[in-house]
Amino acid sequence: MSSAGRSQPTLRPASNFATRVRDGFERQAGRYERGAELQRAVAWRLAHHCRGLPLPAGPCVDLGAGTGLLARAIEQQRPGLALLRLDNCAALLGLDQAADRLTWDLNLGLPGQLQGASLLVSSFALHWLEQPERHLERWCQSLGPAGWLALAVPTAGSFCQWRQAAQAAGLPCSALPLPVASRLVELASRHLRIERVDHLRFSRQAPSALTFLRQIRSLGAGTSPVAPLQPGEWRRIEAHWPAVPAAEGGGKRLSWEMLLLVGQKPAP
Ligand SMILES: C[S@@+](CC[C@H](N)C(=O)[O-])C[C@H]1O[C@@H](n2cnc3c(N)ncnc32)[C@H](O)[C@@H]1O
Repeated sequence: MSSAGRSQPTLRPASNFATRVRDGFERQAGRYERGAELQRAVAWRLAHHCRGLPLPAGPCVDLGAGTGLLARAIEQQRPGLALLRLDNCAALLGLDQAADRLTWDLNLGLPGQLQGASLLVSSFALHWLEQPERHLERWCQSLGPAGWLALAVPTAGSFCQWRQAAQAAGLPCSALPLPVASRLVELASRHLRIERVDHLRFSRQAPSALTFLRQIRSLGAGTSPVAPLQPGEWRRIEAHWPAVPAAEGGGKRLSWEMLLLVGQKPAP
């Protein structure tokens, strides 16, 4: 398909937000895999659901592949299958040894050569796009007959501790706004026969809420359309963030709500 890391012509300039997202990942690319424990765990789980899918002929692609955690997990659990890695961050793609990589901005839709796809997979990427719902529909439409979509995405129920603390402090929550799980499921159901839908909850514990912010930033995932808070404002949020009881290890907790969805485009 494409040569490694080849840039495609863009149809319109990337928006300011998309450029900031890409630059954020670009700057931290070398650290991504060290901090991406949750992403690695989710990739393995989603790959497990892809093991036995009966795939028709057509392109198999990891959308927003980054360093290829999901594509690699699928290839390990399904020897013989090779996925194209697509991402707009050349620095992350460059850390993957895979032969087939494509630098592409998903805000432009999918490149023409992916129409009639056999398998579109994506983990922790859809929510970075400017209109996640619209792009999810387009991904479903790009599948060939009997093609499969396997998606993992953090959804709006994530970061409840952060949102509650910000509200209690009378400050905006500067986390990236996330898509609503039920909307994504409803949209996918219009185009696909849904094979499975899982709503998963993951929690992390850390000595302080600021630790979470640093961890997110160290992955390159700190970009948000909401203006960053001043240190004094963050201290107010920290003060309102519920403490974990000492018997449960103390510190602070942050939760992610993940949607895992697997669906198949009906054959005519
Ligand atoms: C949190 S990382 C997830 C990477 C990988 N899927 C994983 O699970 O480790 C989000 C990925 O989405 C990519 N991404 C964000 N916006 C994008 C866009 N507009 N076009 C293509 N990729 C994008 C980022 O470059 C990054 O690789």
